[in-house]
Amino acid sequence: MSGLLAGKRLLITGIITDASIAFSVAKLAQENGATVVLTGYGRLSLVERIAKRLPEPAPVIELDVTNAEQLAGIADKVREHVDGLDGIVHSIGFAPQSCLGGGFLDAPWEDVATAVQVSTYSYKSLATACLPLMGRGGSIVGLTFDATKAWPVYDWMGVAKAGLESASRYLALHLGKQGIRSNLVSAGPLRTMAAKSIPGFEQFETAWSERAPLGWDLVDQEPAARAVCALLSDWFPATTGEIVHVDGGYHALGA
Ligand SMILES: NC(=O)c1ccc[n+]([C@@H]2O[C@H](COP(=O)([O-])OP(=O)(O)OC[C@H]3O[C@@H](n4cnc5c(N)ncnc54)[C@H](O)[C@@H]3O)[C@@H](O)[C@H]2O)c1
Repeated sequence: MSGLLAGKRLLITGIITDASIAFSVAKLAQENGATVVLTGYGRLSLVERIAKRLPEPAPVIELDVTNAEQLAGIADKVREHVDGLDGIVHSIGFAPQSCLGGGFLDAPWEDVATAVQVSTYSYKSLATACLPLMGRGGSIVGLTFDATKAWPVYDWMGVAKAGLESASRYLALHLGKQGIRSNLVSAGPLRTMAAKSIPGFEQFETAWSERAPLGWDLVDQEPAARAVCALLSDWFPATTGEIVHVDGGYHALGA
């Protein structure tokens, strides 16, 4: 098998529709020679149906990243399909409605805690749960939305993403000795299910459409997926704790 990811065994989380960034990653990864195992959350039969649209069949393992029992069992479940992992994709985010859309000052701690557990802490939980399957040259990649700024409606999700960006640097620190990298792709706004749950998301769409230096296609997940695949590959062997922006250049602009 030839391709950028030839022979790589990847665990990819986060497919819920074929618009999911993770779907695009899984498709490109398979097209580039990888063997893909998926995890699905909640509506497993739906994830399995969407997975059938990939170029190759891919098994789906149930994983709620807040479920300690499922996390503890994930390595064994993955081993039923592949004998190890070269890469993990964390493409997971969730915040209760109170945390989004301008509710920053009123969101209760329980809701904020959920947002942080699912969107931030799970990056570490997933990595450590899969660590027994990984060796030198392994790569962990997650998805963020530029958390260096306060955005109008992103609120506690922005705080969770700032935590994710830090968690990725700490993972890079702690897993570096084992030769395992941790990097994030910071994507511009894309019309996925997660995006649709953010009241006022169209403000991002307008901003990017009007200002991104390279322009920005709100329904094209492939540029972000390509960057994820590149970071999973052997072409970033000395890069860890990094955030690669795939946002049409928006992050480089002043106010
Ligand atoms: N869409 C955007 O504009 C955008 C921009 C930058 C970054 N991101 C990030 O990309 C990642 C993927 O999101 P997406 O936009 O493809 O949306 P999506 O809705 O397709 O994917 C989000 C995924 O998170 C999963 N999830 C939620 N709670 C979970 C849990 N407890 N356990 C396991 N999985 C859980 C959902 O099942 C879903 O598959 C997220 O981290 C998101 O924040 C999205």
